[in-house]
Amino acid sequence: MITGGAGFIGSHVVRLFVNKYPDYRIVNLDKLTYAGNLANLRDVEDRPNYRFVRMDICDFEGVLALMKEERIDGIIHLAAESHVDRSIKDPFTFAQTNVMGTLSLLQAAREVWNGEWKGKRFYHISTDEVYGALEMDGSLFTEETRYQPHSPYSAAKASSDHFVRAFHDTYGLPTIVTNCSNNYGPYQFPEKLIPLFINNIRHRRSLPVYGKGENVRDWLYVEDHARAIDTIFHNGRTGETYNIGGFNEWKNIDLVKLLVDTTDRLLGRAPGEDRDLITFVTDRAGHDLRYAIDSTKLRDELGWEPSLQFEEGIEKTVRWYLDNQDWLDNVTSGDYMKYYEQMYGGR
Ligand code: NAD
Ligand code: DAU
Repeated sequence: MITGGAGFIGSHVVRLFVNKYPDYRIVNLDKLTYAGNLANLRDVEDRPNYRFVRMDICDFEGVLALMKEERIDGIIHLAAESHVDRSIKDPFTFAQTNVMGTLSLLQAAREVWNGEWKGKRFYHISTDEVYGALEMDGSLFTEETRYQPHSPYSAAKASSDHFVRAFHDTYGLPTIVTNCSNNYGPYQFPEKLIPLFINNIRHRRSLPVYGKGENVRDWLYVEDHARAIDTIFHNGRTGETYNIGGFNEWKNIDLVKLLVDTTDRLLGRAPGEDRDLITFVTDRAGHDLRYAIDSTKLRDELGWEPSLQFEEGIEKTVRWYLDNQDWLDNVTSGDYMKYYEQMYGGR
């Protein structure tokens, strides 16, 4: 069972598993919030080894029944509220889904598996934001870095990580937690920096850079994250935490310039023509200065490494959004919400 499979990262994980493991039955459990979009999965929706179930992870009884019905033996849990800016405006929803929803899944897994842990796995997907912020001093987040979340989003994710570990330590539930850096690539909701800015450049709208654009993020191509999840789900050690990242730090302003130049070039505009769109705006409250992940443990233990150079990944990503303008337009207009209705009769 993959939760949050209609979202950005989840859809890449679902696609990878459905294609790579024809003998598995993949159940995608997703509530279809604003961030869930079944159009992300059109290419796999008719596969015999795939089933979509619209459900809220907080619906404990529903999850319990589905786990029994489908005889679920592995959970990859991605469902969450994921956008920091939204968490600043509405922290309740973040606590509800990210904390209570995770607890509901843990409790359902505990009840259904009932101490028969062999061949079972509860894999929780988390974020590097739980570690707080780094100074501009070359330091990195390791698996031993203490938790110091700052935003309501990261506080809720941190809490869910603690619940997952508590279920391992208290009940013996076979869990794994991974903390990943910023993902980018196709199918990301255009509220996040990269797709938002590509879309704005396309329409020649302003590019609102928070503060002075000095904040640093560590970017990883989403398919590399999905490959890491596959590797860890199958070969990771129970009870462990693994950091996932690409050793790929970028200052926001430098990334935005790269985005403008790449998008302009691919649109046949003069290079850098749209740099004038960059507008410095009021900073995000509590804006973490720098994230940077040390993923040495994952490389040394399980041999995973990112496959794409950043410039190559950005070019591929910009090209995807420009080639899939209908996907972007469907999302920005809200039309994508009607897809479920057409397919399944009601959203
Ligand atoms: P997303 O917002 O694109 O997708 C979230 C998905 O979860 C959506 O399909 C949504 O419908 C579903 N969902 C939300 N609430 C739900 C609920 N109550 N019940 C069932 N489904 C629900 O998120 P994303 O960027 O793909 O992130 C996926 C996971 O990875 C999250 O747990 C996030 O914290 C984590 N993560 C994200 C990044 C990143 O850069 N995007 C990096 C590290 C970790
Ligand atoms: O580090 C992992 C996290 O990365 C994930 O856990 C989150 O789910 C994911 O949303 C992402 O969080 P960020 O806050 O880092 O991503 P976002 O794309 O919102 O912002 C990236 C950087 O760009 C951040 O420093 C804020 C800045 N920014 C963002 C937006 C949307 C701007 O300057 N302007 C903007 O309009």
